[in-house]
Amino acid sequence: MRTIQPAGRPLKGQLSVPGDKSISHRALMLGALSLDGLRVRGLSNGEDVRSTRRCLEALGAKIDAGVASVVVRGRGKGEPFSAAKGPLDCGNSGTTMRLMMGILSGQPFESRLIGDASLSRRPMRRVAAPLMSMGANITLTAQGCAPLTVSGRRPLRSTTYRLPVASAQVKSAVLLAGLFADGEVVVEDPFFSRDHTERMLSWLSDGKALSRQGERIRVRPYDLQGGRDLNVAGDISSAAFFLAGAAMVPGSDVVARAVGLNPTRIGFLDALREMGARVEMLGARSEGGEPVGDVHLRHAPLQGLRLSADKVPSLVDEVPMLAVLAATANGESVLEGLGELRLKESDRLEGIAAGLRALGAEAKVEGENLRILGPAKFKSASLKTLGDHRLAMAYSIAALAAQGPVTIDDDACVGISYPSFYADLGRLLS
Ligand code: S3P
Repeated sequence: MRTIQPAGRPLKGQLSVPGDKSISHRALMLGALSLDGLRVRGLSNGEDVRSTRRCLEALGAKIDAGVASVVVRGRGKGEPFSAAKGPLDCGNSGTTMRLMMGILSGQPFESRLIGDASLSRRPMRRVAAPLMSMGANITLTAQGCAPLTVSGRRPLRSTTYRLPVASAQVKSAVLLAGLFADGEVVVEDPFFSRDHTERMLSWLSDGKALSRQGERIRVRPYDLQGGRDLNVAGDISSAAFFLAGAAMVPGSDVVARAVGLNPTRIGFLDALREMGARVEMLGARSEGGEPVGDVHLRHAPLQGLRLSADKVPSLVDEVPMLAVLAATANGESVLEGLGELRLKESDRLEGIAAGLRALGAEAKVEGENLRILGPAKFKSASLKTLGDHRLAMAYSIAALAAQGPVTIDDDACVGISYPSFYADLGRLLS
């Protein structure tokens, strides 16, 4: 539980947020699949990435954490892993479970994957179906969830798979399984979901393991050499909370340094701009095949937003924060095509609508859409995070613009992606 007071002053200063969670998972996994491993700087220190690390170690991967970097010592794709002694605990992390299902589908042994109560409610059939068509045997609960078992097969059958849902996790599971197939695996992603797996596979193989043309991605069974250094960009999804805070609180001026600016992840910056915030991207460069740069945000009055469904994949984790911003903005906002939010760490669609109403805003779920009428003056409230890190952080930022203290029932859950969230927020407000 935590009570957050209204800001009382603008957010000001520069900030380096922890490493990108999506890239960190992939760095550990692909490092472990590379012959000479990877040296990774700026790995996410969140609990989700620890889950991936623990699973890989249970499978025999060697991961040494130094002060500044983590070294993943790979054994190559030939025989990277050995069967774990017990179940692989993926904790709260959907990315861990789903991407590991892809890798484990190509290992010649059986693995059992478990997760916490939230992860055990999330849909896994969407991942199991394409992997089973490639020859893996996967058993799920009657509801299509974890606990689950993966009996791998080597080689897997090559396949062409068109994603039925906008999910980078499903896409990545199939691409990673493709490393163990008997030929080319093609995945079609009409949603252009985040492409970190594609970029890292391409970077690690100098373009030989993977190619992409429009929505068609081809992966080849390829031995990754590794032996490289990777600097993980700051997580734009974590920086988004402070950028939103700065967009809401008059007089704010914040720079998020060295954050990932992958085009499949920056929909939130586009939305901020559309709402009237002053957003600049500076110092663009590339790290491990990923665009990186600074984001400078200065407060300006915000207008309501119409967000169409095709934009959702590029800001899917930022929707709770965006909804809070929309409630403070002038006029009506309609955010469309949010069905996937129901399947995250909590039902974020109903969750955020209920939270906004508790704060005194007008917010209504209409099918897969969220309609919000601003501008609301948030009132003092007690809010339920549903154990969801992104709801906890979105509410904590909403509290800055409230007229009285806001209490959230669970602040520890921010550790899933951002353990130092409150310390960093305090620094911007001091
Ligand atoms: C992620 C993909 C997204 C996102 C999650 C991380 C990833 O999930 O919500 O936080 O790293 O691939 P979906 O693939 O289910 O959309």
